[in-house]
This record gives sequence, C-alpha cells and structure tokens, in this order.
Amino acid sequence: MKKLEDYVVSIPDFPEPGIIFRDVTSVLQDADGLNLAIHLLMEKLEGLDFDVIAGAESRGFIFGMPLAYNLHKPFIPVRKKGKLPRETVSASYELEYGTAEIEIHKDAILPGQKVVLIDDLIATGGTSKAMIQLVESLGGIVVKNLFLMELAGLNGRAKLEGYNVDSVIVYD
Ligand code: PRP
Ligand code: ADE
Repeated sequence: MKKLEDYVVSIPDFPEPGIIFRDVTSVLQDADGLNLAIHLLMEKLEGLDFDVIAGAESRGFIFGMPLAYNLHKPFIPVRKKGKLPRETVSASYELEYGTAEIEIHKDAILPGQKVVLIDDLIATGGTSKAMIQLVESLGGIVVKNLFLMELAGLNGRAKLEGYNVDSVIVYD
C-alpha cells in the first residue's frame, strides 16, 4: 500500500534555483493518490465543529471543494486580485517566491461563522496569514488551517501562532 508521500514528485530548482517544488499534480493524476489525499484530509476534520470551508486560488480550490462537498458545507473561493465581481476585502502577502494579493467577497463569511482554511501546502505561511486576516476582517473565526503538505523548514507555523495548524505530510 503506497503512502501519500510516495505520490508526491519533488522537483529541484523550480520555479527558481534553490526551491524544491513539491508537486501536488503528481498526487492528483493518480486515482489512488487523489483518493488517499482526500481521505486523509477528511480524517483531520473528523469531530470538528465548523460552518464553512475556504480555500485560496488555485491549489486551495482543488482540496477545499471535495471536502466541502463531502461534509455538506459551503465552500468560499478566495481569489487572486481582480477576479471577484462583487464588493471585496483584500490582503497582500509574500510567498516563498514573489508576492501576491488575494480577495474575498464581503458577504462570503458571516460574523461568528467558524471557518476551516484549506490549502495544498504551507511554505512561509504568508498565504494562510492573509486568508486569516480576510476571514477575521469579516468577523469569521478560523478554527483550523489544514494542509496536505507542510515545508517545516520555512517555519510557516510561526506566522500562524495561536491558531490550529495541521498537515498530512511534513517535510523538513
Ligand atoms: C502556493 C500554495 C499555497 C502557497 C504556500 O500557491 O498553493 O497557497 O503557495 O506558500 P506560502 O505558505 O509561502 O504562502 P501559489 O501562490 O503558488 O498559487 P497557486 O495555488 O495558484 O499555484
Ligand atoms: N508553494 C510555495 N512553495 C512551494 C514549494 N516549495 N512547492 C510547491 N508549492 C509551493
């Protein structure tokens, strides 16, 4: 029986020299890998009381949607700047490589709602921190930050101190 780690292909020096890229598409392109990934993420949410799942464009959509569907919860797509048509709030942040800005519709989260944030991977934690800022600016409560992969060497957890952070695979 293959472990989830066995499905992840690691590519050195992509997209820049010195970065080891943990490629989630290698998990998705294998039916067993995809099934295992969703199953392991679902396990991490067992018994958790929450109202909404949110995920950041684009890889956060891949895992957020099947979990929301399976657990009969709403899914909130947090998008890169300029894509959402109605009134938004936005947050800028730095990545392992480059910078970005994400937005959420103002009416996407109601005050007091308990929110789970999902992404394929946490590196510096910049994306997650920005997601938390957006959710909290709308009055939501972030009850868990869930990842398929964590790059522990980049210490993204330090940026999310005080929040519930969980991941399926941890790389040094
Ligand atoms: C990747 C990944 C996470 C983020 C992690 O997304 O899917 O969202 O980087 O990095 P961080 O912890 O340093 O913020 P990316 O911004 O590359 O966009 P993509 O999902 O569209 O590929
Ligand atoms: N996003 C940010 N850093 C990454 C990495 N090393 N591999 C895959 N996705 C990433």
